[in-house]
Order: sequence, then structure tokens, then C-alpha cells
Amino acid sequence: MKEVTNSNDNVINLCKQKNNYLPNTCPDMTIRPVILYPDPVLRKEAEFITRITKDIRQLARDMLDTMYDARGIGLAAPQVGVSKQMFTMDCGQAGGCAKIFINPVIIDSSEETEESQEGCLSFPQQYADIERPFYCTTKYRNLEGKLVKESFEGLEARCVQHEIDHLEGRLFIDHLHSFKRQILLHDLKKLLANQ
Ligand code: NI
Repeated sequence: MKEVTNSNDNVINLCKQKNNYLPNTCPDMTIRPVILYPDPVLRKEAEFITRITKDIRQLARDMLDTMYDARGIGLAAPQVGVSKQMFTMDCGQAGGCAKIFINPVIIDSSEETEESQEGCLSFPQQYADIERPFYCTTKYRNLEGKLVKESFEGLEARCVQHEIDHLEGRLFIDHLHSFKRQILLHDLKKLLANQ
């Protein structure tokens, strides 16, 4: 997910300081290209991860580097062309840190919803108001393979839902009415044609 406020610089500064927490990974920064809509990999259901191998740890590290480089707050593996159930998130919140989610599922979400602007790294410069539950609880494995149950609210809950959507081949534009979606896709097409 792409943050839409003006605090991006602060988020990035925060993130860079925390960027060395992953154990046993390569010290080099590896930025992978972000796959853009309408690449079909974004519509595939991502594969369940059965073992946390060296490749998975390297992918996690690369995804964090890629996410920070693109100034995103969340990135799903299909967005770097790997159809596996993993995403990274760092909303830059005080006391928080970058998180890796493996095989995540939402086990509970609130009836209370919030509408807020949302963007996606696979849809450069496109933003739309999306209504989502304000709280959600997820179950996932961390990079050490430990099963974690965790609740989120606000921006983090929004990001978690956005990224889990990606792992199911669902995109933020799917939450829009068709007219709004058509305008957004038209703008995206124009932007990409001019690049
Ligand atoms: Ni996205």
C-alpha cells in the first residue's frame, strides 16, 4: 500500500534506522522492480509457504528494501512477481517496526468501518477513498516461523487488509464502484503511456 499523507519523509527516516533487524540476511540492498497493473500475476491467488527457506528470507529482505525505496508502507510478494503468501509492512508508527507476514489470514474484523484514501505501488499516482473495517485481527507466521495472532487498527488495519487482498488476487480498485474504477484506470493508462 502507498501512504497518502505528507509525512512520507519521516516514515522513510524511521524505517532506514530500523532496517538492520533481519537476522542471517544479505547485507546488500536489493531492490526488485514493482509489477504494475494489469500484469496477470496481480490477479493470481498466491501460494501457501510451506517452509521458510533461505530464499524466503532473502525475498523478505528484498521486499523491505523495495518497499522503502518506493516509499510504500506495505508490499505483497506478487507485486515483485513472486506469487507467494507473504507481505511486508511498516506504517512508521511510534514504537512499531517493520513486519513480515507469512500465510496471513484475517480471523476477525470490526463492524465499525472507516473511509480513507488509499494508494498502491502497482498503481502509481492513483488514489481512491476506500471503506474498510477499522479494526482487524490476523493470524500469520513471522520470519522465524512462529505463529502470531495480532490485532491492528486504523492505518495498520487498512494496510493489512489491502495486502491480504493482494495475496488473494484482489486489488484496491475492486472496492470501487465501476464508474470510479474506470476513471482511475483511464488515468493510470494515460500516465503509463506517457512514461
Ligand atoms: Ni497494493
